[in-house]
Amino acid sequence: MVSNNLTQNRLNPPFSRELAQELLNNYGSPLYVYNGDRLGETIKRITKAVSYPRTQFRFASVTNGNIALLKIFRSFGWGLHANTPGDIYLGLQAGFDPSEVVYSGSNLNRTEMLQVLNWGVTTLNFDSLAQLQLCCEVLPRRREKSIRLGLRLNLPEITGDSRIGVRPEEFADAIALTNEVGLKLSGLHFYRGTGTNATAAFTQVIDTVIAIAQQLPDWEYLDFGGGFGYPYHHNKTAFDWEIFGAELTERITSLGQKIDLVIEPGRSAIAGCATLLAQVVSVKWQGEKQLVGVDTSVANLSVPSVHGGYREIVTWKQADKSSIPYSLFTTDICGNTTYSRDYLGKNCQLPVLEIGDIVAILDVGAYGYAMSSHFLHRPKPAEVLLENGTHRLIRRREDYSVLLTNQVLDN
Ligand SMILES: Cc1ncc(COP(=O)(O)O)c(C=O)c1O
Repeated sequence: MVSNNLTQNRLNPPFSRELAQELLNNYGSPLYVYNGDRLGETIKRITKAVSYPRTQFRFASVTNGNIALLKIFRSFGWGLHANTPGDIYLGLQAGFDPSEVVYSGSNLNRTEMLQVLNWGVTTLNFDSLAQLQLCCEVLPRRREKSIRLGLRLNLPEITGDSRIGVRPEEFADAIALTNEVGLKLSGLHFYRGTGTNATAAFTQVIDTVIAIAQQLPDWEYLDFGGGFGYPYHHNKTAFDWEIFGAELTERITSLGQKIDLVIEPGRSAIAGCATLLAQVVSVKWQGEKQLVGVDTSVANLSVPSVHGGYREIVTWKQADKSSIPYSLFTTDICGNTTYSRDYLGKNCQLPVLEIGDIVAILDVGAYGYAMSSHFLHRPKPAEVLLENGTHRLIRRREDYSVLLTNQVLDN
């Protein structure tokens, strides 16, 4: 089987230097830039890879909650996967019908549980019996017919030492609990763990997961996560959607039952569709090492040094074939604060950079803006969408007034 690698040639900048400059001139720096066309292509390829006819794709918006991007997922027929009530709120604002939202979060209090149910979400996967019980207690009786309840699976031999989910030996109690109030337990939710690149890590466990789902007498749907990796390093192998999709389709089809399949990709769908542009504001050398200061920080993109992630950083200097031969130097890309972990990249191999040069931090579409914060008291960047040869603002840049939001100043 020919496998489709969903990553781009990540040693080159994702667009021209002229466009990068135009975007920074128009919208300022730093700037999140999303490629809507590429996102559409990725959605189409993932969708095509899982040909099982009863498949429902639900984008995991924990990775990115920008409404304009959520609308793109919607336009391709995907629904939304929610980890939190906030995910649901954003999804509804983006126009998803509550029936297209799957909730599989954790630890809602009573008010939040009621809120989620009142929003009309119909598929809910719980990660503890206590949450299932709470749902059964507060579920309005008129909603009973429309609701699909499932459990998140905790299976140490596959999911490792995870706090999430319910063990198969607890299923009997869960079934009793739902039956008591006249409801069915019809779903099993499996989550492999975020950022799993090895395709076999998913394909090898399909049979086990199905066998466990079959322990539910009213089994109607299988939610297979989440967790599909994205390689980030240009020389790493990508998760193979085609192999995964073919194997999953084959196994579920062979059951000969009308089982709905839910797939909720997060990072694998959106990571590669965005770039964070920043500008060089200072350059200094420590021996052979180049220290490049840029106008962004780990508060804008917390993944690299704070969470141990890695993102390729490229500049237009390497890409410009006409420029005179240059050498590459070990380079740290340093954020614009003195926080000791404020590195966007360490030990990158980059040419000599100058003040004003633009750097492109690649593959920041997932857990990028979504995990940005006001730590270090810098307002958040703007977000821009490239689509059909044009660009438009999809989130305004914050200014310092945001730092006063909700502060009580008059006492
Ligand atoms: C249940 C569930 N589904 C999907 C996701 C998205 O994960 P990923 O980005 O690894 O696909 C998450 C992330 O936390 C999750 O908890």
